[in-house]
Amino acid sequence: MPVLELREITKVFPGVVANDRVSLVLERGEIVALLGENGAGKSTLMNVVYGLLSSDGGQVLVDDKPVKIKSPRQAIDLGIGMVHQHFMLVEPLTVTENIVLGREPGRFGVIDFTTAHKKVQEIATRYGLKVDPDARIMDLSVGMQQRVEILKALYQGARVLILDEPTAVLTPQEAKELFSVVRSLVDEGLSVVFITHKLEEVMSVSDRIIVMRDGRVVGETKPSETDDVGLARMMVGRDVVLSVEKGPSECAAEVLEVTDLHVKDDRGLEAVRGVSFTVCGGEIVALAGVSGNGQSELIEAIVGLRRPVGGRLMLKGVDITHASARVSIEAGVSHIPEDRHRRGLVLEFDLAENLILGDHRMPPYATRGIMHPSAVTATAEKRIADYDIRTPSWHVLASNLSGGNQQKVVVAREIGRNPELLVAAQPTRGLDVGAIEFVHRQILKERESGKAVLLVSLELEEVLSLADRILVIYEGRIVREFTAGEADEETLGYFMTGGGGTKLEDEGRTEHAEMAEGDA
Ligand SMILES: Nc1ncnc2c1ncn2[C@@H]1O[C@H](COP(=O)(O)OP(=O)(O)OP(=O)(O)O)[C@@H](O)[C@H]1O
Ligand SMILES: [Mg+2]
Repeated sequence: MPVLELREITKVFPGVVANDRVSLVLERGEIVALLGENGAGKSTLMNVVYGLLSSDGGQVLVDDKPVKIKSPRQAIDLGIGMVHQHFMLVEPLTVTENIVLGREPGRFGVIDFTTAHKKVQEIATRYGLKVDPDARIMDLSVGMQQRVEILKALYQGARVLILDEPTAVLTPQEAKELFSVVRSLVDEGLSVVFITHKLEEVMSVSDRIIVMRDGRVVGETKPSETDDVGLARMMVGRDVVLSVEKGPSECAAEVLEVTDLHVKDDRGLEAVRGVSFTVCGGEIVALAGVSGNGQSELIEAIVGLRRPVGGRLMLKGVDITHASARVSIEAGVSHIPEDRHRRGLVLEFDLAENLILGDHRMPPYATRGIMHPSAVTATAEKRIADYDIRTPSWHVLASNLSGGNQQKVVVAREIGRNPELLVAAQPTRGLDVGAIEFVHRQILKERESGKAVLLVSLELEEVLSLADRILVIYEGRIVREFTAGEADEETLGYFMTGGGGTKLEDEGRTEHAEMAEGDA
């Protein structure tokens, strides 16, 4: 008997049939991967199941009984939990407080924290979800926050757990840990639906794979019956080239010059501790590092979002060390930020506005303070077509786009601006394989036309296939440099985690570290 069954679920948005009579079943103790292009309807379908959206047709059955799920509350009561990509935790509160919020043990409105605390710890131990119950959410890493979300769902009694792109924001190590948690959940009889664009995850973790396209289920398979090429074809409907081809790079001229840069983080601690490097025109330089080693602060300093406390930044001979974000854009710096919701988009603006954001005061979109709406919509329409942004029109609000299509908006705008320097942080986060192939080609085109590209990615595969040079950043310093072809994932991983004696504390300096510093 299936725990969850969907029969002919239909969901229509203005101009889009997001789900077109979708049927699927989920058995007890199995992991189903839900796969499909950006905008295929995966999140919509799961939001219907979780009661966040009401369907326009079809039926949901839990344990073979038809149910009406009109709110997440009802979904939770039926044993369905969901973890979104954008977490819904209360930052200043502790782990336990977040978990028991809305469902406290104890009567008459009194929260019995001792009991709650004990139960949280029990669940955490049982499924290997190690997390400090008294830590505040804002002090936790993204991976830890995700654990709290999972713990919360389990605490509320979830038997079906839906994970919408859980690994998009995780490091490879965190993803591994998540999968071992997921395994122990299904071993105990829970069922999991997870949405992902990473084909190797699908192959290694799922029991069954369901593929959606254009709002419909177009196929079902198993890891033993397919491979990543086959999966890509099922998703996109054509063959996808999963690797990139590129010739050797030539340094035309130095575009970005970073000299002995020091940058502090939000807490006032030095996150970037004396970094020097250059990026040439016609070159892709990648920063590889475990998140939290200073790469975010370094990038923010380069694009004018954070003031360095020491050192110098030069763009084509112009000092931009203390340039604001606006001046930095005018100087020719484009930025694909790692957090598209916070920095990349204005969600309540329409697509046309988002597609030219930052340039809206400049020609051709405005001259002497007078806006030219037709220039705006012309560019918007071109970028929508070029980047295959799935939307009925440019009138749609950015918030109504699927996650991957929001990402495409940011990439289209930042590359479309024709910058001297493109700073790309996690540029393919949340994109489907077809879109990744396209964006990789665009980044290579920038390089071919003599532009400088600084890439930051947690996907080592992406780093290795695109970069001409790779700088390994560790504890705020560049500890190693490799040219293309010199390094592999294992070597990078080793130096990224402080291997090779790259612990650079003053007293503990080793030969390796000094060599590495000399290199950089
Ligand atoms: N609130 C909304 N209003 C209008 N249209 C919407 C809304 N939410 C989703 N859509 C549209 O429904 C379609 C399916 O979107 P959905 O978010 O389900 O895609 P997805 O498969 O999750 O894609 P991705 O891989 O990019 O996350 C898209 O065309 C999207 O633009
Ligand atoms: Mg989605």
